[in-house]
Amino acid sequence: MKEALEQLRKKAQDELSAANSRDEILALRTKYLGRKGELTQILRQVKDIPPDERPAVGQLSNIIKESLSTAIDERLEEIDTAGRDDALSGERIDVTLPGRGIAYGKAHPITTVSREICDIFSVLGFSVVEGPEIEYDYYNFEALNIPKDHPARDMQDTFYVEDDIVLRTHTSPVQIRVMEKMKPPVRIICPGKVYRPDSDVSHTPMFHQIEGLLVDKGITFGDLKGTLTYFLEQVFGKGTILRFRPSFFPFTEPSAEVDIQCVMCRGDGCRVCGQSGWLEILGSGMVDPELYRTVGYDPEEVSGFAFGLGVERIAMLKYGISDIRLFYEGDQRFLKQF
Ligand code: DAH
Repeated sequence: MKEALEQLRKKAQDELSAANSRDEILALRTKYLGRKGELTQILRQVKDIPPDERPAVGQLSNIIKESLSTAIDERLEEIDTAGRDDALSGERIDVTLPGRGIAYGKAHPITTVSREICDIFSVLGFSVVEGPEIEYDYYNFEALNIPKDHPARDMQDTFYVEDDIVLRTHTSPVQIRVMEKMKPPVRIICPGKVYRPDSDVSHTPMFHQIEGLLVDKGITFGDLKGTLTYFLEQVFGKGTILRFRPSFFPFTEPSAEVDIQCVMCRGDGCRVCGQSGWLEILGSGMVDPELYRTVGYDPEEVSGFAFGLGVERIAMLKYGISDIRLFYEGDQRFLKQF
């Protein structure tokens, strides 16, 4: 009996040192110490041995049980510690490694120029307003004094969505939308995308405009000149030479196009200004009284001016870019320069 116990102890210890996982060790615990375990089986036979030998065998079996149980607990502890050490060394962080650089994005040059222009007018008390890019024919043309079949429609080639719905060809429809909603005084600036089916070095089918509108009592052409002169000096520098050239727009009367002296040749004439010495910058004029009647203002009581400019054109002149399409090719080498 004693021999059987000693053998069992040896076998259990060997198997325990060979066991490498938590599961294997737990299985050994069941195998030897469990209710149907091998040690338990042996102890069942104690009743068959002579009574005077029983105490010694009982004592030995208790010792074996204790030591086996302690050894199992110790092995479990070892396994757990080894697992933690492995996990920790696997997750070790080298705090001396240089950090990974963050790639910063930045605003597109057209966004930047558009914001700069809006900022200049904000200082003058204009608020920024936006309107829809998919627009009713009514707002894009009709209410701006451009009836159907009127030759003035030819000034702006148009993408039609439906018979009476277009991709807006300019930001001027926002003027009407704002005047319909609010009474004078009105002082707004409207940036946004506009669309025309054109494509060459100076035209893209989508481009950006900024519209301005000021309506109040007693506004004159002098206010228009003063405001636009201040604006263009902010963009192109103090002392920029301007000229107001008589023109025609269906929604202004009188109308004027504003030119600046060519920024490339300073007026001598070059390729950029088509040898004229001047660059067309924007369209403007005194709001046609017909528009006031359309929105329910009294033309005898209020007057005002409006203007519209192309953002790409201003950006091209400001940065000396000769092909408008560069803005929309998404070439990082180009875009990174701004
Ligand atoms: N809407 C015109 C265009 O796209 C630009 C323009 C001219 C706007 C004169 C105005 C204006 O408000 O008064 O060509």
